Order: sequence, then structure tokens, then C-alpha cells
Amino acid sequence: MKIAPSILSADFANLQRDIELVEENQVDVLHVDIMDGHFVPNITFGPNVVAAIRPFTKLPLDCHLMIEQPERYVEAFANAGADLINVHVEATPHIHRVLQLIKSFGVKAAVTINPGTPVSAIEPVLSLVDMVLVMTVNPGFGGQKFLPECLEKVTALAEIRRSKGYTYEIEVDGGVTDQTIGACRDAGADVFVAGSYIYDAENPAERIQALKDVLEQ
Ligand code: DX5
Ligand code: ZN
Repeated sequence: MKIAPSILSADFANLQRDIELVEENQVDVLHVDIMDGHFVPNITFGPNVVAAIRPFTKLPLDCHLMIEQPERYVEAFANAGADLINVHVEATPHIHRVLQLIKSFGVKAAVTINPGTPVSAIEPVLSLVDMVLVMTVNPGFGGQKFLPECLEKVTALAEIRRSKGYTYEIEVDGGVTDQTIGACRDAGADVFVAGSYIYDAENPAERIQALKDVLEQ
């Protein structure tokens, strides 16, 4: 099981410091939220920021593209150093093609579903992906309340993985705290994104440990 801090809630004027802070506390992945002001109301980073981060961390970079027609930017994020590119099924009419495109650059491919999107919308591409991201809030902002009803989809995806022999990881993103991570694990998730719970704390190291403590129970 993997902890993936989201730098959406980091101090953008001190990104290097805030990334080193989580890396020193043995996390597994760095989650980078890319927002375009269209697919979601907020705007964050582009590929240049990913390229700027790349040299100062060894953590795999999980780039969560909350952008319309992500196919337009896959090459730019691959060249910037993304290890995994996450695309929303709701953001493109050509999800199969985008996932193939991501893999053509030697980058891991993930498909993401919003809280209002059923698992059936991604069933045809589950054999292609390295990871499925189940949003547990509506994307766009950090610090929102966890939506427990999304966990049924995590359970369904774990069951499909088992019955079909697939190997994708299942990631959850949004509202993950020490109070909600246990239910995500019990539903079958493997990768846990946490933004505000870690970065809005006085002591982020304690928060990372609190998440690990629940996972080890
Ligand atoms: C939401 C982003 C999340 C966000 C999670 O649109 O995709 O990755 O950083 O933030 P928290 O953990 O605060 O809900
Ligand atoms: Zn995210």
C-alpha cells in the first residue's frame, strides 16, 4: 500500500522544501494535480512545473490531469518526467486512444472516474491500465469532504481485477484522512492520495505516520 501526498496543498513558493519534507518521511509517490480551469474550475500547474520538480525528487510523479482533451498534453507531461499519467474518462471521447498514447511514451497509464461516473464507463479499458483512480470528492479543490458512496466502486474494481486477473493498482483521491483511509483500504484501494490532511498540518510528518498507523492495523 502506498501513500501519495498531493502537492496541491503544499506551499507553492516552497515546493522543493515541501516535497523534500514528505520524501524524508518515506512516502511512495508524489501526486501532482494538473487543473486547466475548464474541466475543473481551478488552475494549477503545467508541464514546466513538473519538469522543474523532477530533478529534486526520486519519488515517482503521478500526474493527475484534470484537463479537457488530455491527449493534447500527454507528450509534454511525458517529456517533463511524469512516471504515471492519469486521465479522466469524462475529459475525452477517446479514452482508449489516450491510454495507448501514454504507454507509447513508456509512461504508466491510469484512468480516473469522478464520483458521478460508474465503473462500467471504464470497463472496456481496464485491461490497458496500470492504475485506476476513483475520485472520492468532485475534483477541483483540496480540503473537501470525503464521499463514502464512492467506495462501492473501489470494491467493484477490486473484484473485476481478481476475476479477470488484471494487475492495476486502485488509487483513491479526495478527503483521505486518518478517519477515512481505513475504509478505503477495506474496500480494496492500494494507493492513497492525501493533500490537505498532510500539508495543512502543523506537523506533516505526524500526519503521514497517522495514515501509516491505520494501514498497519
Ligand atoms: C482534488 C485533487 C486532489 C486533492 C486532494 O481535485 O485531485 O488530489 O489534492 O486534496 P485533499 O486530500 O485535501 O482532499
Ligand atoms: Zn488528484
